[in-house]
Amino acid sequence: MPQPRSRSVPQRPADLQLRKQAGLPITVLTAWDALSGAVVAEAGADAVLVGDSLAMVVLGHATTLPVTLDEMLQHTRAVARGLEAARSATAGGRPLIICDLPFLSYQCSPDEAVAAAGRVLKETAAAAVKLEGAEPETVAVIDRLVRAGIPVMGHLGLTPQSVHRLGYRRQAGDPVSQNRLRRQALALEAAGCFALVLEHIPGELATELSGRLAIPVIGIGAGDACDGQVRVTADLLGLTLHQPPFSPPLLDGRGLAVEALRGWIRAQRTPTTPAAPSAPHC
Ligand code: KIV
Repeated sequence: MPQPRSRSVPQRPADLQLRKQAGLPITVLTAWDALSGAVVAEAGADAVLVGDSLAMVVLGHATTLPVTLDEMLQHTRAVARGLEAARSATAGGRPLIICDLPFLSYQCSPDEAVAAAGRVLKETAAAAVKLEGAEPETVAVIDRLVRAGIPVMGHLGLTPQSVHRLGYRRQAGDPVSQNRLRRQALALEAAGCFALVLEHIPGELATELSGRLAIPVIGIGAGDACDGQVRVTADLLGLTLHQPPFSPPLLDGRGLAVEALRGWIRAQRTPTTPAAPSAPHC
């Protein structure tokens, strides 16, 4: 079986599974345009997620619900251009791109889901889609997508597209909901998901599922012992206005940027002494 080199760049969903089998940690970062795509690729992320969090982070919406499939496609194409531009710095090629299927692009019918996910694969350089939940209808959609040749990453726990039902609270806090999440995770693996995101759930449950599932479990707010971690890059860089409690920033990017720009504006407004006129040459 082919083994990944620790420094090779995963380009296919199966490469993430090889990393899990080899015991190598998986890092996934979000990107939303060419600039952020180039930065996360140069930083060496194993995969780049064009998450529907861009609705809030980039487009200024209050939730992820309003972002459209056309907007996701446009941002995914921009990210791919950024990755291509950063290629020389990413020794080994362009990392795997995963694109979120936005709210109502896959919930209405399996046919519509195939059409939406098909557009992602046909019209962008993404090689996989991510979608939320594991209700029976969603599992049926995933089964259909996988049989159509479309790699699917699952997403359980805090699922922002269900914000009006679940809120942004930590999920699976009691034994009944923990058992439901266990069943759902197994159902997603059985339906053919190549990986699973677990968001804002108890770390012990995420650790247990990382051990039980053959597919990689990628955590966010789910403890340190998953097969990999995913973060919203703008959160890590301290750029977002509303920092999730489970995703602390690495730096005060917003403060640093505002301070630097204030300095520049101050400098533009500071009158400079006009240079003395030079003596005329005869
Ligand atoms: O949309 C997104 O950025 C996500 C991550 C939080 C996993 O789904």
